Amino acid sequence: MPTALITGITGQDGSYLAELLLSKNYKVIGMVRRSSTLTFERIQHLQDDIEIIQGDLHDQSSLMDLLEQHKPDEIYNLAAQSFVPTSWNQPVLTGEVTGLGVTRMLEAVRLISPKTRFYQASSSEMFGKVREVPQRETTPFYPRSPYGVAKMYGHWITVNYRESYNLFSVSGILFNHESPRRGLEFVTRKITYGAARIKLGLAKELRLGNLEARRDWGFAGDYVEAMWRMLQADQPDDFVVGTGETHSVREFCEKAFGHLGMDYEQYVVVDPRFYRPAEVDLLVSDPSHAKNVLGWQPQVNFEGLVRMMVEADIKRLGKEIA
Ligand code: NAP
Ligand code: GDD
Repeated sequence: MPTALITGITGQDGSYLAELLLSKNYKVIGMVRRSSTLTFERIQHLQDDIEIIQGDLHDQSSLMDLLEQHKPDEIYNLAAQSFVPTSWNQPVLTGEVTGLGVTRMLEAVRLISPKTRFYQASSSEMFGKVREVPQRETTPFYPRSPYGVAKMYGHWITVNYRESYNLFSVSGILFNHESPRRGLEFVTRKITYGAARIKLGLAKELRLGNLEARRDWGFAGDYVEAMWRMLQADQPDDFVVGTGETHSVREFCEKAFGHLGMDYEQYVVVDPRFYRPAEVDLLVSDPSHAKNVLGWQPQVNFEGLVRMMVEADIKRLGKEIA
């Protein structure tokens, strides 16, 4: 039975990845940071099957202890300060966790368990003000947020440890992926949750920022499969993972409200408070390397994703009301 360590197991991707690895008979260790209240909502249903250990990407010795005790075969480093707007308010913390945290984990691997295969959760946010359309592994980076800058550091240190120390360390450059478990502050979930609240009479409007931004949105459940495949490959390499399609925030609104029989224009209010100091206008992937080498393809399309998220929010809110 292989052992996998997931940092960020309480997040959206961590919960789907834990489910996937359990279905493949892995022993799953989840690293969680200490907090005064539990943040286990997304993994509540898995708690009997996974082992939860305290640790923090700020704290080198907690990572070393974890590796010493468990010697995992695979590490999926998903933990991060992952919300882009927060990275302007807390740029140093974002650099510490999302950037330097990767080096702390890689140092632990190098010193304690160099045979462990390491996955780094890199991001299409690194392409920022895009230099090429669509974006692929060789597209130059131009990050537009402290988060994007920190992820770029994490990406290159992962490549560097592979080249310097011969570690099996890979960087998955994942485009936006969403699900009913997405945090409420990210735009897709904000829209589906907001539309569901309006439909059920719990709200009258939804305030959003830039409706023209375009993203390559896929389903998180599909993307964790790509992470796993990267660590099963013969050679460590970096992969772009996305759908190859791009849609605007406006189109997402149109579909989500439309699915509930509403016209988004009657409810969505553009509020400049949600504009960003520097925006990423357009992201669209070329996932052909992942398709050719890993045999990976997304299973859920844009329509299916929006429908899944709207229906889950209607159901969840309906239950709460009842
Ligand atoms: P998420 O839902 O925001 O989860 C982030 C996780 O990181 C949470 O479990 C959080 O723990 C943990 N964390 C934060 N700071 C930590 C620290 N100092 N030490 C240990 N754990 C810490 O993010 P996600 O959407 O699942 O994304 C997973 C990873 O993929 C992130 O690195 C993200 O930047 C990257 N990524 C995401 C996307 C996407 O579209 N979702 C695309 C590209 C890359 P708490 O529960 O305690 O807060
Ligand atoms: N959050 C949010 N809230 N975004 C809004 C809003 C709003 O009210 N209105 C418009 N947007 C626009 C943002 O300006 C951005 O262009 C787009 O919607 C997507 O925003 P988010 O859903 O917050 O995601 P993101 O693209 O900034 O970052 C996500 O994807 C990255 C991969 O490209 C995060 O998951 C990152 O962690 C991830 O790396």
